[in-house]
Amino acid sequence: MALPFISLQDVTKSFVGQKGRTSTAIANFSLDMERGDFLCLLGPSGCGKTTVLGMLAGFEQPTAGEILLDGKPVRGPARDRGVVFQGEDSLYPWLTALDNIAFGPRMSGRPTREWRARSLEFLNMVGLSGQGDKYPSELSGGMKQRIQIARALANEPKMLLMDEPFGALDAQTRSIMQQELRRIWLATNTSILFITHDVDEAIILGSKIGVMTAGPGGTLKGIVPVNLAGDRNRKDPAYTEIYSTVHDMIREEVAKASRVSAGAAA
Ligand SMILES: Nc1ncnc2c1ncn2[C@@H]1O[C@H](COP(=O)(O)OP(=O)(O)OP(=O)(O)O)[C@@H](O)[C@H]1O
Ligand SMILES: [Mg+2]
Repeated sequence: MALPFISLQDVTKSFVGQKGRTSTAIANFSLDMERGDFLCLLGPSGCGKTTVLGMLAGFEQPTAGEILLDGKPVRGPARDRGVVFQGEDSLYPWLTALDNIAFGPRMSGRPTREWRARSLEFLNMVGLSGQGDKYPSELSGGMKQRIQIARALANEPKMLLMDEPFGALDAQTRSIMQQELRRIWLATNTSILFITHDVDEAIILGSKIGVMTAGPGGTLKGIVPVNLAGDRNRKDPAYTEIYSTVHDMIREEVAKASRVSAGAAA
């Protein structure tokens, strides 16, 4: 059998805190993703979602277990994985929007004409054609977030890792960005791991929804496939069914998490 595109096998990550105490963020976490999956990961605060994403990005190494991307162990960050964090402004302030997007393609050693055209394509894709010569300080929060997504995509990553990327956006921009990201995913078939707290966002975007158990030592509770044809409609009974399945799975875990913290406080 062919190896899955992404495979986390029995991954445990422990951190040593400031007082030397070891805490286990995730324990025996296993997850497979196929090429082209759009997996939305949900779970109670502190269950280890960002920890999983950080290890896939290569920012952190697992304490135990293995992470394979395309059959090869992940040893550190690389351009084959694009990372977008929540509300984080990681754009280079001294470069225009277009030059921020072009930063990676320019390093690729391709002819100038090619990387310029490619960067413009991604600027257009996130709906910002004509705004390429603005500097980050001249852009709104939503526009900056779109440039960050375009910059990640312009590197043509095998995988996009997104940690609540729309969390800080207003409802209107958020909904536009969701539609754009879905359109980009359908057009490029990039594999995406997307962290969110919002069940609707997960159903609107994802091809699969992963729910984690409460931390400490969070693990994968289950995967719910999103088998909905075409545009996702909240009034569709199949939508509501997925919503209540995922919602119930999370509610159980949130209840557990509050019992754990009540116990710790006692
Ligand atoms: N660098 C670190 N050092 C020590 N502990 C950490 C570190 N990073 C994360 N942790 C701990 O690991 C656990 C999981 O954290 P993580 O940030 O992955 O959770 P999360 O699911 O992303 O939460 P949220 O939904 O609030 O963003 C938490 O208990 C956290 O305190
Ligand atoms: Mg997090």
